[in-house]
Amino acid sequence: MHNSGETLATKSPNLTDHFNRIPKKLRLSITDRCNMHCVYCMPKTGIPLYPKNEILSYEEIQHLATIFAGLGVEKIRLTGGEPLVRPDIEKLIFALSNIAGIKTLGLTTNGLLLSKKAAQLKSAGLQSINLSIDTLNSDKFKSITGIDGLSQVLLSLQTARAQGFEIKINTVIIRGQNDDEIVDFAQFAIDQRCPVRFIEFMPLDGSHIWNQSLVVTKEEMIQRLNKSGFVLLPQNNPLSDPARLYSIQGQEGALGFIPSISESFCGACDRIRLTSDGKFLTCIFERPQNDVKKLLRLGKSDKEIADYLIECYQNKPQGLISLLEQKSLRSGLNLMNTIGG
Ligand code: 5AD
Ligand code: SF4
Repeated sequence: MHNSGETLATKSPNLTDHFNRIPKKLRLSITDRCNMHCVYCMPKTGIPLYPKNEILSYEEIQHLATIFAGLGVEKIRLTGGEPLVRPDIEKLIFALSNIAGIKTLGLTTNGLLLSKKAAQLKSAGLQSINLSIDTLNSDKFKSITGIDGLSQVLLSLQTARAQGFEIKINTVIIRGQNDDEIVDFAQFAIDQRCPVRFIEFMPLDGSHIWNQSLVVTKEEMIQRLNKSGFVLLPQNNPLSDPARLYSIQGQEGALGFIPSISESFCGACDRIRLTSDGKFLTCIFERPQNDVKKLLRLGKSDKEIADYLIECYQNKPQGLISLLEQKSLRSGLNLMNTIGG
């Protein structure tokens, strides 16, 4: 018979922090490049990009993802920058979908290249897509993203849907930019029968424009929707999911809110990140410092790399709560194009 100590040891998770959080979801940013230039993220004036040789190869990403899977990660989401600008992404998806322990594979994209790639992505094993759309107005789309691409993105939505992907739309709401479209997006969610998730603007902006007054909170958005006659009914959400989901009374379709600023969901966080230049981020607000690529390129063993990840994760910061307490929320805390949401 096993003694209880042994049983506990074999059952205990490999990655855990001081707040007993256990990561199950890994966001892999596979490039910091993007084919759009959203004003709040990577303005045309430019932000520094990683030299190409600093970016992890597909083999390196697959290698690290396998180590993470061995440490309990079950879900992987590919992000960027814009992940579809990286050539042959379907090869990476195929490789990742074959890693033991990985149950779901998703992609976050701005949709510009999606209609062309949807079929390949599907056959490579991709299951779900988060499509970023911040406005439904063509002119505004051009002024926000720098690209005249709304019709292309909407075409991608239809193509991806025809391929049978599970699709969610992500909309970052910024006061004065697109907060006048909250009701239009709700109607869009109903018409398209596709959930729209409104994201509160976070200080992860390459453009350093963030300030608290630009944040439209979940409560304010709900009030505005109520005023326009939408009655929202809360659904049961897993605590670890940052999106608070609502159904719309009398309608098909659902809305979600990601209250990144107004309701910290750090307590149940189950997410970790790897940047395209191989830094392990235990929290979205943590400066990239844990250099896993260095260990990999030095030829360290999987066990040594896993031990390093475990050690880094033990020091995962509490998250937004402590930033708010220290009043240290300010623009440009991290760059979203390097960590990918
Ligand atoms: N705050 C909130 N969401 C952001 N995104 C990019 N920058 C920010 C920010 N500062 C969104 C993108 C995309 C997802 C990856 O994150 O619009 O939907
Ligand atoms: Fe590109 Fe996404 Fe940043 Fe927009 S938010 S510039 S689509 S990485």
